[in-house]
Amino acid sequence: MLDGEGRILAEAVFTQSEEHARFGGVVPEIAARAHLQRLGGLVRGVLAEAGLGVGELGGIAATAGPGLIGGLVVGATFGKGLAMGAGLPFIGVNHLEAHALTARLPGLFPQAPAYPYLLLLVSGGHCQCVAVEGLGRYRRLGTTLDDAVGEAFDKAAKLLGLPWPGGAHLERLAATGDASAVKLPRPMLGRPGCDFSFSGLKTAVAQAVAKGLYRPQDIAAAFQTSVAAVVADRARHAHAMLPGATALVVAGGVAANQTVRASLAAATPLPLLAPPLRLCTDNAVMVAWAGLERLRAGQSDPMALAPRPRWPLDELRPPDEVAVTPPSSH
Ligand code: KG4
Ligand code: ZN
Repeated sequence: MLDGEGRILAEAVFTQSEEHARFGGVVPEIAARAHLQRLGGLVRGVLAEAGLGVGELGGIAATAGPGLIGGLVVGATFGKGLAMGAGLPFIGVNHLEAHALTARLPGLFPQAPAYPYLLLLVSGGHCQCVAVEGLGRYRRLGTTLDDAVGEAFDKAAKLLGLPWPGGAHLERLAATGDASAVKLPRPMLGRPGCDFSFSGLKTAVAQAVAKGLYRPQDIAAAFQTSVAAVVADRARHAHAMLPGATALVVAGGVAANQTVRASLAAATPLPLLAPPLRLCTDNAVMVAWAGLERLRAGQSDPMALAPRPRWPLDELRPPDEVAVTPPSSH
């Protein structure tokens, strides 16, 4: 929950990894049910912490895509219900846009990045370089041809016998390893553009594990070094595609990885802006902030807005090009 300036009044996250861990990945049905079971309590808790009632709010934002449809339907419908009940505007936020705008949260950095800036989104489900040219103005410069980078970490970790989600476990294991002990490929390194590909690297990890000749920590270190080198190379190319960029913003769970971060910091002359981890991974603060940016620019969405499992950033429009629906339209 944010105030009108974007200051955080209260926040809460319910992390579902434990529910999904024994299945080795996200189970859509479990995710949808957890949303149903938890959302009411979380919202009540956040309102209580801020000492506010729903009627005192200026608007309600909820994620409307992209992602697993079950959770999106629960969250968007819950948000619409709150908005409808209190006669407030509703904003259905694209969660990729929310990642893109997080760096603009007041007080997060000494200076919010000016447009245009580069966003590198590196999570379990997404892996893309985006030119952020204004509110609602995004150009995807590159994306992954196969796995997302977090997915690659999770698959490599699984091959090494680590629990899911494996990114952080792999980083810990890699800390004791010697990256030079195993030779792994660096897919796409030096290629024009800033697309990614990780399936070849994953196969190479599988082969290295199968050989039984290498220590797991060395494989982990080599894998992490390869990923960091590739990500840095892609960021360099993204900067060449947007030479006027003012900053490189990183978001998504993989931004937690210190090797990846260090490599990104050295990749370009741009300041590397990495929001604190709780705001890098999926969270409601960033969704509220994207909603506030749009609400302040005069946008709200109709109650008929349908959540979208697929919703590329390029399809978004600036608020003045989006129809405004008065909250009393139901
Ligand atoms: O953004 P996120 O929390 O969720 C979504 O995917 O939307 O990202 C989760 C991903 C997982 O693949 C996880 O293994 C990875 O981020 N991750 C890491 C680290 N911490 C989380 N990968 C590498 N190093 C880490 N320290
Ligand atoms: Zn996300």
